[in-house]
Amino acid sequence: MFYDSGSMKYVVGNWKMAPQDRRKAETLAQSLVQELRARPPRVSVVVCPPFVWLSLARDIMTFSEFCALGAQDVFFKPQGPYTGEISAPMLQSLGVSHVLIGHSERRGLGETNTLVAEKLAMAVAAGLTPILCVGETSREGDWYAFLREQVETAFAALQPRDAERLIVAYEPVWAIGSDTPDTPDSALTAAIFIRKFARERFGDRLAERMPVLYGGAVLQETVGPFAMQEGIDGVLVGRASLDAAVFGAMVRRFGET
Ligand code: PGA
Repeated sequence: MFYDSGSMKYVVGNWKMAPQDRRKAETLAQSLVQELRARPPRVSVVVCPPFVWLSLARDIMTFSEFCALGAQDVFFKPQGPYTGEISAPMLQSLGVSHVLIGHSERRGLGETNTLVAEKLAMAVAAGLTPILCVGETSREGDWYAFLREQVETAFAALQPRDAERLIVAYEPVWAIGSDTPDTPDSALTAAIFIRKFARERFGDRLAERMPVLYGGAVLQETVGPFAMQEGIDGVLVGRASLDAAVFGAMVRRFGET
């Protein structure tokens, strides 16, 4: 076997900027409690609501029992006069354990590889588990070079010991929000590429254990082959994570593999 991420599978839900009102957020969290009650062993579930629904989700879902609570972003400074930003200590005091870093929708708003690397360093320094999102915007030209730049800049911000908790999500930007995911084969090729840089930076042991997930158009009808794909350790789900029944079915699907 060329890698060993401990055979743990990950299903991460990214609610993005939804639901739009408190009542709907409560309903979603309550439905997830029902769906995730029968969470299969060896599947690690993380739910990432928007900042404003984190407390509500935590209170309803009593997180340690069902799944982990993740944020969608974190600021790269621990404190200071930064209007509108959210620090890692704030997240931790809410019970947040995971954080998405460098999601393409944030990169699209201007986050550079350097800023992503700073946020990654902040997250690990604060004891959060980062889910680093990387992925090319298009398959034209030397897209591996684009991916390499993202991955190498981010990894350079970490010491090998920091990588113990690192999760990477490969999310080709062209697939996000579409109906057509990458093929499992091609996602695996990207995962192997990412793991190669992890090996160079962090050494064989950590690189082999580092979970690499796939994200981008993971829907009820597209999740199956990713659950079966050895070398892909789980999925990052956007839209479909807002439907508790679909998200629950995906979690169970990973439990079958
Ligand atoms: P999608 O989004 O599942 O709606 O394509 C994925 C993501 O944004 O991580």
